[in-house]
Amino acid sequence: EIELSLRPETLNQYIGQDLSKNNLRIFIEAAKMRDEPLDHALLYGPPGLGKTTLASIIANEMGVQFRTTAGPAIERAGDLAAILSSLEPGDVLFIDEIHRLPRSVEEVLYPAMEDFCLDIVVGNGPSARSVRLDLPPFTLVGATTRAGLLSAPLRDRFGVHCRLDYYDTNALRSIVERTAEIFGVDIDKDAAVEVARRSRGTPRIANRLLKRVRDIAQVKGEDVVSKETTQHALEMLQVDAEGLDFIDHKLLKGIMDGFQGGPVGLDTISATIGEESQTIEDVYEPFLLQIGFIQRTPRGRVVTPKAYTHFNREVPGS
Ligand code: ADE
Repeated sequence: EIELSLRPETLNQYIGQDLSKNNLRIFIEAAKMRDEPLDHALLYGPPGLGKTTLASIIANEMGVQFRTTAGPAIERAGDLAAILSSLEPGDVLFIDEIHRLPRSVEEVLYPAMEDFCLDIVVGNGPSARSVRLDLPPFTLVGATTRAGLLSAPLRDRFGVHCRLDYYDTNALRSIVERTAEIFGVDIDKDAAVEVARRSRGTPRIANRLLKRVRDIAQVKGEDVVSKETTQHALEMLQVDAEGLDFIDHKLLKGIMDGFQGGPVGLDTISATIGEESQTIEDVYEPFLLQIGFIQRTPRGRVVTPKAYTHFNREVPGS
């Protein structure tokens, strides 16, 4: 699978996130020296920054199987019990969107994480009783967009916490060049920088934009992808100079046009522009906050003068 081969397989191949990477390198080495599984690890940060990739690298570096599932896919305690009891010693079990595990499932997970055992109720009515099943030792790697979305008891059971941050342009440029090489595409240095600069600090976006840029360069018959073609392609994709897309524009313009720049509540914005509150909060807002285009206040979201300037608009009250 092409998408999978894009993913780096070792910590040394993984670009950026130096803090998380250096910590993990040590924790992995220590666990291997003790011949133990790595402690359970929680990876958190905005979507597209490489949480799944990092989890698969952990499994690979530990030399164990990588098993993957997602919070919403585990509906009942029995679903989780089936997965846990099929693990082999040392395996990494990755649960994406772990904040969306049902409460009843979370409770089965606690003893599994702490004591590697399952407490299950068999039978019903007066003959119901609890039996305890031993599990092989394993590493749970959980991923979530924000650590604060997890219940405190679950969060506390992870021994390793890694926060992933938006990538800087240099790191993204290296990722774009690495991906181009895997695609067998020659890309000009300035073109790679251009894709990097306009990818919202997010490798998943950089790689997606690169694919479309490649399409356009290919149709034009360009041997080496140029900066001009890249700019043209990004314009066609409605990605602006800061990397903002159609929905970012709708969000910012919605607040500027409808609410004089705010403050306005999340649910009000959501209803006005017709995007899910959760998507705005997890995907769009974090980057707009990061680049200083919006601010959060106790009374709601505010569009900053910097954003007004980006849209060539007069800052209100100036
Ligand atoms: N592809 C996507 N994310 C990556 C990263 N952090 N390092 C290397 N290649 C990647």
